[in-house]
Amino acid sequence: MDYQELIEEVYNEVMSANPRGKVADYIPELARVDGDKFGIALVDLEGNIFGAGDFEEPFSIQSISKVYTLTMVAGIFKNKLWSRVNVEPSGDPFNSIAQLEFEKGIPRNPFINAGALVITDALTSKFDDPIAEISKFINELTGKECTEINREVMDSELRHSERNTALGYFLKAYGNFENKVEEVVKTYVAHCAMEMSCVDLARSFSFLANDGYSIYAKREIVPESFARRINSLMLTCGFYDEAGEFAFRVGLPGKSGVGGGVASVMPHKFSIAVWSPELNEKGNSIKSIMALELLTDKLKFSLF
Ligand code: DON
Repeated sequence: MDYQELIEEVYNEVMSANPRGKVADYIPELARVDGDKFGIALVDLEGNIFGAGDFEEPFSIQSISKVYTLTMVAGIFKNKLWSRVNVEPSGDPFNSIAQLEFEKGIPRNPFINAGALVITDALTSKFDDPIAEISKFINELTGKECTEINREVMDSELRHSERNTALGYFLKAYGNFENKVEEVVKTYVAHCAMEMSCVDLARSFSFLANDGYSIYAKREIVPESFARRINSLMLTCGFYDEAGEFAFRVGLPGKSGVGGGVASVMPHKFSIAVWSPELNEKGNSIKSIMALELLTDKLKFSLF
């Protein structure tokens, strides 16, 4: 399979269809991004890189960062983690608070904001400087210094973080939050405001295509059984209330962010990241999803 030819074909088809959406603006600073940006990077298990378009340009990874924090916490707390966060798709938007009350402060899954806040809270209990540890971890997965926090995006989100703060206090009311809410929200917003390119995202996700072993870190990041479970969670919950649609159209585990990025893996074959900032009404990138759907259609295989 010539991956370079494949992703160029996908890139050209998406560019000529040119589906449009809306750049996220609930974080005002994100609205300044050029909506025409579009990049694809694929990394195979040997580390060969195939790229098209703006694949080397850093962008705001936002919720894609939740895969790194989940992986760190899974590595530290092992199966004890699942008493604090569930593994069911929510069918609700990423920032919904409704289910938390019915389900007594146990978030549906680690990718909705409530679940990701519990994960960041666990990292805050473990580390004096959790954000430094998260950066170190991502750099290790990528095999180079690649993470940069965009301070404007971070401050912009912090000025509009009433909802995430409310989720934190709600979790605390149910005894599922150990640290100061504002401190954890700040760390959460900081890891969401990290910037990475498609190629670095694809490199960093390659351990999930490789049974938990990173060729960049040269070590097992998580046991194979955990890598499989993180992939399962990405398939069932990575796109929130659009997870079914993504599984239906693409058939791969993937994680989206409101910066317009999607990171995905084909286990035992490759990792891939796509970026295009214009989103659909569920907050997921229109062009990125289209690109991945075309990719698996052309490959004639997905997970299935
Ligand atoms: O908490 C938020 O609202 C953002 N920092 C992240 C949301 C996000 O990326 C949702 N994914 N599509």
